[in-house]
Amino acid sequence: MRRLRTQVVIVGAGPSGLLLSHLLGRRGIASIVVERRAREYVEQRVRAGLLEQSTVELLREAGVADRLDRGGLVHEGFELRFDGGQHRVPFTELTGWTTCMYGQQEVVKDLIRAREAAGGPMYFGVDDVAIFDMDTDSPRVTCTLEGEAAEIVGDFIAGCDGFHGVCRRSLPAGSFRAYEHVYPFAWLGILAAVAPSTEELIYGVHERGFALHSMRSPSISRLYLQVGPEEPLADWPDERIWAELRTRLAVDGREGLNEGPILSRGVTAMRSFVMEPMQYGRVFLAGDAAHIVPPSAAKGLNLAAADVRQLAAAFTAQYADGTRELLDRYSRDGLAAVWQGQEFSAVMTSLLHPFPTDGAYEARLRQARLRDLVTSRASATAFAESYVGLSRARLAATLATDPRLG
Ligand code: FAD
Ligand code: DHB
Repeated sequence: MRRLRTQVVIVGAGPSGLLLSHLLGRRGIASIVVERRAREYVEQRVRAGLLEQSTVELLREAGVADRLDRGGLVHEGFELRFDGGQHRVPFTELTGWTTCMYGQQEVVKDLIRAREAAGGPMYFGVDDVAIFDMDTDSPRVTCTLEGEAAEIVGDFIAGCDGFHGVCRRSLPAGSFRAYEHVYPFAWLGILAAVAPSTEELIYGVHERGFALHSMRSPSISRLYLQVGPEEPLADWPDERIWAELRTRLAVDGREGLNEGPILSRGVTAMRSFVMEPMQYGRVFLAGDAAHIVPPSAAKGLNLAAADVRQLAAAFTAQYADGTRELLDRYSRDGLAAVWQGQEFSAVMTSLLHPFPTDGAYEARLRQARLRDLVTSRASATAFAESYVGLSRARLAATLATDPRLG
């Protein structure tokens, strides 16, 4: 049996685990990352692309934003299309904050390179991860490391292993409460080798379903279609995908979408989930391991980064001066932000998607909400503050001084 010792054992090398390990490393705290998948797999996994300004700033402060600053596409507004018309929501004019389009897999590559350069131990292709002694001073992870049985003992375990990971499932029954909501539709997402059709994102609401035009670079487009919850990919040949995107994103019946070879495709379930608390004993969960949102508002990665910022600060306080206060507050403060993200994701999901159970009445309500958003500056500002992440930042600042809100 191979035995290793570190300060924080991190399960999962997604954005949460890698960023946590990197931030801890910069503060002199040792960690070991164990990841089930191969490095090539995590570096290629196409997922999120919209980074809030606060996430960009965190990556910049962490010294991993060189490529992001060169290649990220800064956005100041998006387009909303419904009833055949197009409207712009100028979120930067309304809030002062921007967003940035930069692929999650690029963030992951940047973080892996930074960890490598710092000599931080990271293991990929690790099987059979299990966690033990969670409520003792020496929690442990057992696993198969490079083909050999191994045990890694730490002062803490960070569960950054995503929604389907092992950490949350290993906590004792009854130690947390789960809140969950499953939507009756999914998103089919494609990555296409074609220049984006517009500079800004287009959220398209159509009676046939929602469609989103997004991008990753000046030559790569990312597009999504609302589809049925169990839709087999085989039912969606390329021509059907493009035809549906053209129809749902048309303006006054005019179709105008750049089309090109599809590089990858996948179907994503639409689900909300929160566990409370996000901690048990010396195990702290962060990112998708503790909560997920439907992708509509692009909050998942940004909420994960917010968790990690706070968890890194809490570990730093613990190791620098032995104060456990921030670790004890991690779940409470984090959950306030998480629920803010949940609420806005639910609002945006119901604003943009026709539900299978909707009748003519619900369709009219959605239309009224959309009209309000593009005609009332007050409504657009409130929406934009949540979209760019300003509302959450304000909540976090207030929580620091008013614990009754927690
Ligand atoms: P993950 O990225 O899931 O990483 C967890 C890691 O743990 C994985 O590498 C996994 O292999 C590993 N792991 C799992 N089990 C084990 C185990 N037993 N042992 C060891 N390792 C394990 N968010 C946004 O903010 N903006 C967007 O635009 C956006 N768009 C999205 C579009 C799509 C199609 C999808 C699917 C998601 C989107 N999201 C978006 C959400 C975002 O991708 C996630 O919130 C983000 O990946 C969370 O990061 P994480 O590190 O917490 O979890
Ligand atoms: C993307 C995904 C979203 O859910 C969103 O609201 C905006 C952009 C994207 O993957 O590009």
